[in-house]
Amino acid sequence: MSHADIILLPGDGIGPEVLAQSVRVLEKAAARGGHTLGFQERLMGGCSIDRQGVALSDEVLADCRAADAVLMGAVGGPKWDDPRAKARPEQGMLALRKGLEVFANLRPVKVRAALQDVSPIKPDRIAGVDFLVVRELTGGLYFGQPKERGKTADGHERAVDTLEYSDYEIRRVVEFAFRLAACRHRKVTSVDKANVLESSRLWRQVTVEVGAQHPEIALDHLLVDTASMRIIQSPRDFDVIVTDNMFGDILTDEASVLAGSMGMLPSASLGDGGPGLYEPIHGSAPDITGKGIANPVAAILSGAMLFRYSLGWEREAEAIERAVDYALDAGNRTADLQPAGKPLTTKEMTDCVLGGLE
Ligand code: IPM
Ligand code: MG
Repeated sequence: MSHADIILLPGDGIGPEVLAQSVRVLEKAAARGGHTLGFQERLMGGCSIDRQGVALSDEVLADCRAADAVLMGAVGGPKWDDPRAKARPEQGMLALRKGLEVFANLRPVKVRAALQDVSPIKPDRIAGVDFLVVRELTGGLYFGQPKERGKTADGHERAVDTLEYSDYEIRRVVEFAFRLAACRHRKVTSVDKANVLESSRLWRQVTVEVGAQHPEIALDHLLVDTASMRIIQSPRDFDVIVTDNMFGDILTDEASVLAGSMGMLPSASLGDGGPGLYEPIHGSAPDITGKGIANPVAAILSGAMLFRYSLGWEREAEAIERAVDYALDAGNRTADLQPAGKPLTTKEMTDCVLGGLE
């Protein structure tokens, strides 16, 4: 019997809706395994801007640091979309990732047999797809300095984002990917744009060095434009993909199409020890907020990853994943996973998952 303290950051839009359902599943799965969970809710994102003027306060970050793990919903929405606003919900997410030093973002892409017909890609291309994207999460274009707006000498408006990586930042995430590949099909595909970007040439150099230390693992390199094509054309070729922050952001939205919906993909963000951060890869979905129809599966599976990576509760994590398969195999679908009869609400879908939890 063990106990874990988890900080919940429901955030904005459908975040609170899917997180509440994920918690129901986690509580039942933990209890089945003889464990107890303590949950504390905190503000992050647009809701935090409204209440305290910043997307992530120092107090909330400190609480997250002191927890065993952090489970997040989603942030953002039209209310906070003013491009001139000083505080933006997404800043909270970035500050949290940086503050927890979770440099490796794991995004498993799995095509579940029951959902092969939901993807717009032909079923014979995607049957059995099961790969893992490891996205660098605390560096690159998202964090490079300078990041500024100003005027050119001749009076035009200009904007600058900087793409910078050090060998140390690359090495630690690539090593992470190799460790994960060792427990999978022993193949790493590194994605970069080394034909154009200096930072990508460093990325490739470091990746080759790391690869040389792992002769048992096959390493290949793809340019990001080619990779984006192969993910659709021959997605079964991939085992572990490792890539930088920006490329990983884009490629995982693309990859979610294979799985049938953004509402299916969970993620885990991990560093060297310290609490992990878990969140669905989808956003706050303002168009369906408050309707109770969001797909809870990504949030539920993020909870399973939390059990696995932060708590070491592997059996319980697998039980949750099996319960999700059981619910989907039985034909249960939320509105994003159509066509398939009458769509279930967020809560009804979760009830089906709970029903499959042995
Ligand atoms: C994601 C999201 C975020 C990102 C946004 C909301 C800042 O798209 O987690 O993929 O770009 O990292
Ligand atoms: Mg994204």
